[in-house]
Amino acid sequence: MHCDKWFVLGAGSMGCLWAASLGHKGIIPRLILRASSERQHVALKLRSDDQAQYFGVDVVCARTINGSIDRLVVCTKAQDTLAALHSIEPYLNDNCHILLLQNGMGSQQTVAQRYANHVVWAASSTDGAYLPAPFEVCHAGQGETWIGPLTGVSTNGFDELLHNFRLTVRYHPAIEEKLWEKLAINCCINGLTALFNCRNGELLDGGVKQSRLDRLVVETCSVLHAAGMPALPLHDRVYGVCQTTASNISSTCRDARQGRATELPFINGFLIDKARSLDVAVPHHHTLMTQLRSRGIR
Ligand SMILES: NC(=O)c1ccc[n+]([C@@H]2O[C@H](COP(=O)([O-])OP(=O)(O)OC[C@H]3O[C@@H](n4cnc5c(N)ncnc54)[C@H](OP(=O)(O)O)[C@@H]3O)[C@@H](O)[C@H]2O)c1
Repeated sequence: MHCDKWFVLGAGSMGCLWAASLGHKGIIPRLILRASSERQHVALKLRSDDQAQYFGVDVVCARTINGSIDRLVVCTKAQDTLAALHSIEPYLNDNCHILLLQNGMGSQQTVAQRYANHVVWAASSTDGAYLPAPFEVCHAGQGETWIGPLTGVSTNGFDELLHNFRLTVRYHPAIEEKLWEKLAINCCINGLTALFNCRNGELLDGGVKQSRLDRLVVETCSVLHAAGMPALPLHDRVYGVCQTTASNISSTCRDARQGRATELPFINGFLIDKARSLDVAVPHHHTLMTQLRSRGIR
């Protein structure tokens, strides 16, 4: 049975993962697609550990939402989030809790300002998912997802996610710290993998790639420090991610290969803006972004 109050915005990898995972818990959400679709109902396929499960989910678009939204999980890319939310704005209940799953930073803060009358939450997730086919999601990497409110004091609008949920979700009262942590790691790895068109592990080549990685780590640490973020063993964390995900292609590298817009403006772009406002020099981040732009990677 569908749960009237829950909606998932965006039917990509994360949208399908979250919709199926909510379905697994018995909270079957409605899935909001960008365009009007002939389909009104789909059998969402979730693949995990060589098993497949199906969940019947209603799909709607901005024009066909029937009802009001109390709980919204936003699974668009960072650059699409504001427009996607704008398209469904009339259906948001006054007390709506909005959970933002975007990587990087900047889009969440913009949404929190724009939707200050609602309770805006952000998430930082290390889950890995991809869509081999529409409405078929593969949960490739079991990670954890930290969630916390960005705006004001909140009642626990997403309590149901913290227990008996197939995704590991934890509450963090200072979610911006978690966003910064992931941003800092992504700032060092993602753009470089796109520039060198390589897998994460190949950055540890003992040569040019690795020395550029090291310089990005040093600059990123300076910005974290100036921004007043808790000290982070960033060098170890970045090397650890490169080692444990050595054969992975980063989302930025994948987007670049497919000629799609990347989320770099919300990753290195955000860091560069922050560095400028804090008067911290980040020349290696500038060089990286300039080189990426010159190759048409944005
Ligand atoms: N995939 C992962 O493993 C993973 C892990 C952690 C975090 N994340 C983060 O999660 C976010 C989503 O990533 P993803 O991998 O799920 O991306 P994705 O597969 O590209 O999915 C994004 C979806 O949003 C849809 N969309 C865009 N604008 C929309 C609108 N106005 N209305 C409705 N739907 C709209 C897109 O539809 P169209 O196809 O029509 O454009 C697409 O289906 C990103 O910020 C990513 O960095 C992803």
